[in-house]
Amino acid sequence: MEIKLIDIPKAHDVRGNLAVIEGNSIPFEIKRVYYLYDVPSGAYRGGHAHKKQQSLVLALSGSFEVIVDDGVKRERIMLNKPNVGLYIPTNIWREIENFSSGAVCLVIASTEYEEAEYIRDYDEFLSSKR
Ligand code: TYD
Repeated sequence: MEIKLIDIPKAHDVRGNLAVIEGNSIPFEIKRVYYLYDVPSGAYRGGHAHKKQQSLVLALSGSFEVIVDDGVKRERIMLNKPNVGLYIPTNIWREIENFSSGAVCLVIASTEYEEAEYIRDYDEFLSSKR
């Protein structure tokens, strides 16, 4: 599986939008949901890769940029739509920055939280890719 943007199906009518994320719209089974909010301007988040975890990252409100790095190529992706998620497979280094005021970053993950499956050192990440 590759890094990709996934459109989240939505029901639109005069009352607004209702977006639904369920089993068959993302490439993994959901084990955990967490979100970042009240992020001060200038803050930097992420700065890790995962040995097991796959995730879908969404800007539920506001905007931010996600840097994804597979060890060879580094890409910067702006997320600013509540119905578009960035799918990040295992073993991809990610950083998140340039949060707008009021931004809410939702992360849907394929694993429960387990610090041992994090790679928080960039050089270690690069060596794991070789
Ligand atoms: P961290 O991984 O540094 O956040 P980010 O990648 O968004 O910058 O996590 C911040 C703190 O929260 C750290 O002490 C670990 C804890 N944490 C949990 O307890 N459970 C979780 O599911 C996550 C993602 C983090």
